[in-house]
Parts: sequence; structure tokens; C-alpha cells
Amino acid sequence: MRAVTGKMDLNRIAFIGRTFREYAKLFNLNRKVLQSGDILDCPAGASSFTAEAALMGYDVAAADIQYGTPADRLIDKACKDTAYALEQFKKVRDSYDWSFYKTPELHATERMKALVNFSGDFSEGLKAGRYVQARLPKLPFADDSFKLVLSSHFLFLYGNRLDFSFHMDCIREFMRVAPEARIYPLMGLDGKEYPALDRLISALKAECFSAGRQKVPFTFIPGGDKMLRVSR
Ligand SMILES: C[S@@+](CC[C@H](N)C(=O)[O-])C[C@H]1O[C@@H](n2cnc3c(N)ncnc32)[C@H](O)[C@@H]1O
Repeated sequence: MRAVTGKMDLNRIAFIGRTFREYAKLFNLNRKVLQSGDILDCPAGASSFTAEAALMGYDVAAADIQYGTPADRLIDKACKDTAYALEQFKKVRDSYDWSFYKTPELHATERMKALVNFSGDFSEGLKAGRYVQARLPKLPFADDSFKLVLSSHFLFLYGNRLDFSFHMDCIREFMRVAPEARIYPLMGLDGKEYPALDRLISALKAECFSAGRQKVPFTFIPGGDKMLRVSR
């Protein structure tokens, strides 16, 4: 089942985004990593990582299936999806680990910061080629276009809607365009680690990639303090 290719399922995958500060923690990024070469955020949604990192002078690009949508409609969707996601958090706030965000209000502030910075950058960035429409598992970039791919809140989070071969195809594609990919979180929406993760790691190793869990200085879903790091 290639669930994300269906229109109905795509609408159920929230078009929201995280900030540079959040990405730095959940991917364990430091200045050395950020300066090491071009970085691709995919799927980036309404993340402001690219907007903020570009302003800091880093070489970054963002790809998402929704970037073909006209800017006004996309930003409207981002506002609605962000408002909806924040409403949902209110009902389940006690199930989360608040050590990073401290309070639901500060969590909402971070989400709004992402929305504002993404919205402010999207139209210009699209013209500049910073935002590129892409439909995983294919990416419209030449081999080795990037040094690192960051993939946040998509693959394993929606692991129950995406089949094993879709995960493998996406990671192979990340490895075609960059020598390293970092994927976060390893947990699904049910709060449990993606059940086929060990099988996925073995399958990647069988294709001569290095792959393994790595601890990161970030938790929100309890136990969600690891990313998958894959390299060739
Ligand atoms: C929850 S958002 C994650 C955004 C961002 N990475 C973050 O962590 O804030 C998931 C994104 O996946 C995108 N998406 C869904 N299916 C896709 C596909 N087949 N190819 C590329 N992007 C896809 C959606 O449009 C959405 O923006």
C-alpha cells in the first residue's frame, strides 16, 4: 500500500512545521555539520529550518509533495493544520515529555514561529529554488546534490500507512542524493517504535549502507530520543 500517493491519505498527513531550534536538537546538528555542505530537508512541510538556515548563510533546500500548491492555499493549509494539531495536543498533553518545550504554550509558540518564518520565505524561496516540489520515493535532484538529508516527522511517524518497500525506496533515494540521511522520530503516532525498524536496518546493511539508531538531545514522544542515521 503506497498510502501517501492517495489524495485522501495525503490530506491526513499534516502540513505543519518545526523550527531550526527544534531540528538542531532532534537531528543533533552542530555548526560543523551545518557547514559541511548542502542540506536537504525532506519532506519539509511548513518547517522553517530552510528559511532560518538560509538566513544564517547555510546551503539548504526543502522538498515536499505539497510545494506545487499555490502559496496562498498552502499557507492557509499550514495555518489550519497547525491550529488543528495544537488543539489535538491539548487533549493528550499529559502523554508527552515536556522537558524540551517546558509548557504547551511554549510548544505552540515554537509551532507558530515555524509557520511565520516558513510563510515569509516560501514565495521568494520557491523562485530561488530553495523549495522544490518532490513526491517521494523519487527526488528531482542529481546524484550527490547534497551532503545530508534530514527527514523529520514523516517516514516512521506514519509508519502504519507506508509500507516497508516505500521506506526502503525513500532511504535508497536519500542515499542517491546524499552520503548521509538522518530520520526522526523512530516512533509512530501510537508512541511505539516502528515495528520493522530492525528489519529495515538489516536490509540497509545488506545493501552495504551503515545504519543505526543514534541518541539525540530531544524528547517529546516519551522514549523518542533517537534518530536513524544512514550513510554510505
Ligand atoms: C508532518 S509534516 C513534517 C514536516 C517537517 N519535516 C517537520 O518535521 O516539521 C509531513 C510532510 O510530508 C509531506 N508528504 C507526504 N507524502 C509525501 C510524499 N510522498 N513525498 C513528499 N512529501 C510528502 C506532507 O506534505 C507534509 O508536509
